[in-house]
Amino acid sequence: AAGVKGGVERTFIAIKPDGVQRGMISEVIHRFERKGYKLVAIKAIVPPKALAEEHYGDLKARPFYPGLVSYMTSGKAPVIAMVWEGVDVIRQGRRIIGATNPLDAEPGSIRGDYTISVGRNAIHGSDSFESATIEIGLWFKPEEVYNWQFAHAEWIE
Ligand code: PPS
Repeated sequence: AAGVKGGVERTFIAIKPDGVQRGMISEVIHRFERKGYKLVAIKAIVPPKALAEEHYGDLKARPFYPGLVSYMTSGKAPVIAMVWEGVDVIRQGRRIIGATNPLDAEPGSIRGDYTISVGRNAIHGSDSFESATIEIGLWFKPEEVYNWQFAHAEWIE
């Protein structure tokens, strides 16, 4: 059922190297897991340049693009790439993360609580169903994404 728009969906969430360097891995996972979302794929990866360039392909013309790619690929810290699954997770994930510019991000969101720089905003989340599908396919092989059930779903229902 994962991947039905507006229902149970999957989204690509990445803790960027600055978020990893700042010790934010557990904080990010905690916020998605406590909300009720399911972690169906995770890996630490220093993305090859081609992957970072494709991931941010829409931004190729922007002045910060070369710097963005080199910071993602530097290897000073890996990226923690994840796929999270659940009802409305694409939109809700963006709310949990907060606005792209941390100065616009609400307190209580991850960026609102932890960051002040748009170029070092700690985390990435897919902005639409279409980009989620593309990004999951870029960062993960199908066999790296797992189907599993929370046990309590069976106890209650
Ligand atoms: S857009 O096209 O105007 O919507 O782009 P924007 O939302 O401003 O930013 C999209 C991603 O680019 C990153 N960004 C930057 N990286 C490095 N340096 C600078 N100056 C910079 N400005 C924007 C921004 O963090 C967004 O990354 P993601 O990973 O998508 O959140």
